[in-house]
Amino acid sequence: MLNIDLTGRRALVAGVADDGGFGFAIAKALAEAGASVCVGTWPPALNIFLNLLERGKMDESRRLSDGSLLNFEKIYPLDAVFDTMDAMPEDLRTSKRYKDVGDCSIEGLAGRLVADFGELPLDIVVHALANGPEVKKPLLETSRNGYLAAISASAYSLVSMVSRFGPLMRPHGAFASLTYMASERVIPGYGGGMSSAKAALESDTRLLAYEAGRKWGVRVNTVSAGPFASRAASAIGIIERMVAYVQANAPLGEELVASEVGTATAFLCSPLASGITGTTLYVDKGFHTMGMALEAPPG
Ligand SMILES: NC(=O)c1ccc[n+]([C@@H]2O[C@H](COP(=O)([O-])OP(=O)(O)OC[C@H]3O[C@@H](n4cnc5c(N)ncnc54)[C@H](O)[C@@H]3O)[C@@H](O)[C@H]2O)c1
Repeated sequence: MLNIDLTGRRALVAGVADDGGFGFAIAKALAEAGASVCVGTWPPALNIFLNLLERGKMDESRRLSDGSLLNFEKIYPLDAVFDTMDAMPEDLRTSKRYKDVGDCSIEGLAGRLVADFGELPLDIVVHALANGPEVKKPLLETSRNGYLAAISASAYSLVSMVSRFGPLMRPHGAFASLTYMASERVIPGYGGGMSSAKAALESDTRLLAYEAGRKWGVRVNTVSAGPFASRAASAIGIIERMVAYVQANAPLGEELVASEVGTATAFLCSPLASGITGTTLYVDKGFHTMGMALEAPPG
């Protein structure tokens, strides 16, 4: 039988801080396939996440098909805006949420992985994070700082992760990230430079696939997911409208569920996808293929 078997492989999923986003769904799918899963969590969200886990608030969503609970091998603090701790401003480093977590830069995480698991600790790295402080602002009203912050957190972070985690990957490793079709089509309301960040992420996916493929033999792909009401997406302010519009107009007229993004990403990171790199895989119920709306937007 052909199935996704990731037994004996270790994944790092960066961007998990609750059970309501794509990162969690991907972690769960990877665990279903047999991988051990470490996560990287943004320090401002770390304590709440640990607390929810400890109090069993996520037990239902952690339940795997064999009845066991999804267990994270390690939960690391990660702020993907910083390549090294030297780059972090002193006031942030000494602030309440950061002062006790240690080195939460991308390089710091690479060091922790090596210290915990040895020279080649990883098979799979998933970039499931984004941040655009001015996402609610139209591009015309976006400040330079807001724009650069969106690109830094949501696109450059992948470049930095591939360059720092690439050397830690075992043979046939795979990177995946999450993108959105606002990179190539106009989505009014998805502002603050987030559309630009996703365009950069997709372009970088192709170049990183080439450079990291030649250098370390790893694959780099991105999944273009349809709209889904995660915590981050809810910050956009129009996510319910986006979800309803896609459901009304996509070839498959049904709501996207996070596990569909989870299983597609697990496939992309598995040996079954060994011939696929540099690609953008749409997991959006086919919405990207449409050139004409069937119904007026709700509301
Ligand atoms: N939800 C959607 O509609 C949708 C559609 C397409 C693509 N995506 C993409 O999916 C990915 C995951 O987002 P999601 O929608 O599942 O929401 P989410 O809230 O589950 O995930 C975003 C995560 O990014 C983390 N994060 C933010 N800034 C960070 C930083 N500097 N360092 C480390 N972590 C940081 C947050 O703590 C959070 O855990 C993002 O790249 C997002 O753009 C989402």
